[in-house]
Formats: sequence, C-alpha cells, structure tokens
Amino acid sequence: MVKLFFLLSGENETLPYAELIAILEAENLNFSIIEKLDQVMRLEADNNCVKAVSLRSAYTRICARELFTCEANDEAITKCLNNIEFRNFINENDSFAIRVKRVRNYAEKASVMKYESKIGKLILKKTKTRVNLVRPDNIFIGILTSGKFIFGLKIAIIHPKPFGERRPKEKPFFHPSGMPSKLARSMVNLARAKRNDLLVDPFCGTGSTLIEATYIGCRTVGLDAQLKMIKGCIKNLEHFNISPEGVIHSDARKPPLAKVDCVVTDPPYGRCCSTMKSTTKRIVEETLDVFNSLLDKGNKICIASPKSIDLSIIGVRIGYKHLESHFVYVHGSLTREIAVFEKR
Ligand SMILES: C[S@@+](CC[C@H](N)C(=O)[O-])C[C@H]1O[C@@H](n2cnc3c(N)ncnc32)[C@H](O)[C@@H]1O
Repeated sequence: MVKLFFLLSGENETLPYAELIAILEAENLNFSIIEKLDQVMRLEADNNCVKAVSLRSAYTRICARELFTCEANDEAITKCLNNIEFRNFINENDSFAIRVKRVRNYAEKASVMKYESKIGKLILKKTKTRVNLVRPDNIFIGILTSGKFIFGLKIAIIHPKPFGERRPKEKPFFHPSGMPSKLARSMVNLARAKRNDLLVDPFCGTGSTLIEATYIGCRTVGLDAQLKMIKGCIKNLEHFNISPEGVIHSDARKPPLAKVDCVVTDPPYGRCCSTMKSTTKRIVEETLDVFNSLLDKGNKICIASPKSIDLSIIGVRIGYKHLESHFVYVHGSLTREIAVFEKR
C-alpha cells in the first residue's frame, strides 16, 4: 500500500469523490481513506488504483504519490521539503518540473509561482538534475487546498478531452435529451460496473451510457420505446465503432431479458422527451420493480431523475438498499438526482 492523492474536478460537490471510491470498489482494490479535502482525496491504497482510476474516471484530474502533507504556510512547507531526500525520487541527469495548483481561493495566486520557484531551486540544490518545463521526465505536484499543502510525484494526468469529443452535439444523431458523456461515465462507475458485465440501459436514447460502458469493457444492451431513438442510437454506436450485445425496440417495463449484471439509466422527464402517456414517477417505479427480479443480490442500479420525484424513497419502497444520491444542477427548473441502489 502507498500513500496517493487525487486532484478531483470541482464540477460537483460529491460526485467526484463518490466516483473515485466506486471505481476502487468495482475493481476490488484495497484502499483506506486518509482524508477528504476540497477537490482532493488522500488515500492509502494499492498501486494499481492509479491505473484503474486513470482508465475509468470522469472526474479525476491528477493521480500522484504523496510525499508529504502539511499546513499551507512557508515554515511548514520548507520544513517538510528539507526532510525529503529528492534523490530517491528522481534519477541523476533526469529533468523535472514543479506544478503547484491552488483549489478555488485557498491561497493567493502569487503563492503558486512562489512555491514552484522555491521547490525548483531546492531540488536543483539537492540533486544533479535539471528543469524542463516542456517535456520533464518527472513532475512534482503541489496542491493548495483547505488550508493544506499536499505534495507528491505525479503518476498520471487525466485529460478530459475524450469526453468532449463524445458530447451530445458531437454525435451524428443528436437529441436534446442526450446525457453529457462525463456524467454517463460517472454513472457507469457508480453502478460499480466491471469488465465483461452485462450492463443495460432500458432508456438508452442516443446511446451515451452504452458508449461509456463499452469503453470500460462492459457488454451492453440498450432498450428504447421509440424507433427513431433506436435508429439514432445505432448510428451513434457505429460512429464510435461500438458493437453492443443488442439495441432493442422495447418498453423498459417489459424487457426481453432474463438476467442482467447492472443497470445505468436516465428515464424520460416529459420535457424534451416524452413519457408516452405515463409519468416519470410511474415509469421509474415500474422499471425499478421489473429490474429488481433480473439482478442478482449485491448488483447495482444507477438511475437519474428530477430531484422532485424523490428517487431514494421510491427505490427503498420497492425493496432496494439505497447506497447514495448525488444532485446535479442542470438549470433553474431541473436538478437531477443520481441514485445508486443495490439489489438485496
Ligand atoms: C432522457 S432520455 C435518455 C437519454 C439517454 N441517456 C441519452 O444520453 O441519450 C429517455 C429515453 O427514454 C425513452 N422512453 C420513453 N418511455 C420509454 C419506455 N416506456 N420504455 C423505454 N424507453 C422509453 C425515450 O424515447 C428517450 O429516448
């Protein structure tokens, strides 16, 4: 086990932390939480965590091996830096760069450059290395957040670009109900989906969930009650070279399936996408009920709906264990609840 820290996106207060934990649980990795700070999670964990998080996460920006954490003041930082034997972490003649980031307004802008230069000079003094800001062999990361300074050696930087390339508007078949690819990915992670699992989206629409689940190695099936959505979904999947197990024109409440490993879905809200003479609440109730008998004990459903329908209460009433809920603001009249349920 090693000490690691992860810089998380600030897009949502709870989702980035929950997604990280869900990935480690899905991959059966050993970990214990040291501390949750604003946009930073400190863990003691298996080294393989970094690979899993880099491959899967939507909301993790940087993974690093922690060298120290201290109060964010000059005296404490200098003392900790002086105690580090940098030669143990950087080879002779290798190059390095220091990147200090401040989360929100936890430190003044000027302290970023001040610490980058101070740490750089100290490493040069203690080792036979050189600075290279363009293609460094090693990157040391410092983060100023929650009154603390967390410092370590970068293991992975995760670029959010691929999610941008799969935004609803970038897909050949666009529909305004399409879910942002990052949110779809985080829901797949929250459902603790594993490689080779059969993941079903009973309201697949434009296919966002199926695409993200395929990228982490799941087998997928999509259902949708509207033929035009099925055709559009197939077009999108072909565009990304994705071959699902099936995309089926079917009512979510009568799935032609015998058994599934996990469910990730976003039922219609009756705004830009019709509830077809029903209501969101009834569709959610009926779908959760039907899928309860198709899941094995311990398997999960991650489902999104407008906050106003109280997803967690519905799921519990049907017999699921409610694991967690997160709230995602969309606009003035819509905040989504993303709930995760476990089959008892
Ligand atoms: C909110 S959209 C899903 C969006 C999808 N997650 C995406 O990213 O494109 C809901 C979808 O449910 C479909 N739908 C509505 N009622 C349904 C039902 N009873 N069974 C299956 N699909 C239904 C709609 O056609 C629509 O495509």
